[in-house]
Amino acid sequence: MKTIDELLAEGVAGKRVFVRADLNVPLAEGRITDDGRIRAVLPTLKALVAANAKVVVASHLGRPKGAPDPEFSLLPAAERLGELLGAPVAFAQDTVGAAAHDAVNGLQPGQVAVIENLRFNAGETAKDDAERAAFADQLAALADVYVGDGFGAVHRKHASVFDLPARLPHYAGYLIATEVGVLKKLTEDVKRPYTVVLGGAKVSDKLAVIDQLLGKADRLLIGGGMAYTFLKAKGHEVGISLLQEDQIPVVQEYMKRAEETGVELVLPVDVLVSKDFPDLKTKAPATFQTVDADKIPADQEGLDIGPKSRELFASKITDAETVFWNGPVGVAEHPDYAGGTTAVAQALLDSKGFTVVGGGDSAAAVRNLGFDESKFGHISTGGGASLEYLEGKTLPGLAALED
Ligand code: 3PG
Repeated sequence: MKTIDELLAEGVAGKRVFVRADLNVPLAEGRITDDGRIRAVLPTLKALVAANAKVVVASHLGRPKGAPDPEFSLLPAAERLGELLGAPVAFAQDTVGAAAHDAVNGLQPGQVAVIENLRFNAGETAKDDAERAAFADQLAALADVYVGDGFGAVHRKHASVFDLPARLPHYAGYLIATEVGVLKKLTEDVKRPYTVVLGGAKVSDKLAVIDQLLGKADRLLIGGGMAYTFLKAKGHEVGISLLQEDQIPVVQEYMKRAEETGVELVLPVDVLVSKDFPDLKTKAPATFQTVDADKIPADQEGLDIGPKSRELFASKITDAETVFWNGPVGVAEHPDYAGGTTAVAQALLDSKGFTVVGGGDSAAAVRNLGFDESKFGHISTGGGASLEYLEGKTLPGLAALED
């Protein structure tokens, strides 16, 4: 994989450099609530600006349906990028149309333009190879060189991620190089004990990674909505908690395998339960009680791990040599149910080992809960991408940069 340092050494002054970034930031009422992904691509963009390249930045945002949709415009991200770069950034209101060509043609060396959301074009995410290729051809017309730096999207076989690099000289940006370096540490010669904390709503999203980790991690801590499928699989009442009934047999098989292979599978021992899901808009105080994990009332749902679980999880994290954490362990957007996620984040900080926070929701939670992100070993910008890497899959966006 050639890196941006090689590109800089070759010289890029005056060349149009297409940077595939992941500016898929969370928005609330049009305002960015966490700009971590924009800041993460700054080293690459600053280096290209300093080298007098004409920088064309492209990204997806959200999941629009292959046509323009103002709700998913990249404009707020482009404006924030301009603030962070300390220089005006041109914005094109289309992706490969006249506006994009005008914006790119108007660039002087050392200037930056952002083109509109890649997913406003059906060709970006098309399953059909020819449709994706046609869109990649249109994107290729905007640039002389390709830099892949959208780590959060490298697991997507999309035109800008997979097909475009084949059409231009291509290089990995600093973010991708860093992320891949960190993930290698979690897969090759891992320092032990190796603790993995998995949260989030759905067990089905995490099955493949659990399958892989059963052969690699020493301890697997399960929190969040998916913990209730595990508790149910153990025969406990889980009330109206999130449950994926159809996954129970798989989960039972995993629990058996964990026992056979000596992997410590740690589930919550107590939980905060309530009859009502909290109001995430007003964040009005919630009514809840703490119960043991095998005593969830039939009419209530689990919304966070309880104090005994927080201590238990922390004890499995703090003495680990390597920790990977993906997914909040409770409804962390509400202050009454953020305690478990806060405890996990704090335990990572207290750990003497190498700590990695994997991906979108957990990374945003860490920042929104007020933690100093520089204190963690690494905060990944890619949730799905880092999980798929750990699953041992070939990621299209990395494979495309390889040759
Ligand atoms: C992410 O948020 O994980 C990345 O930006 C990829 O987005 P996607 O899941 O919509 O492809």
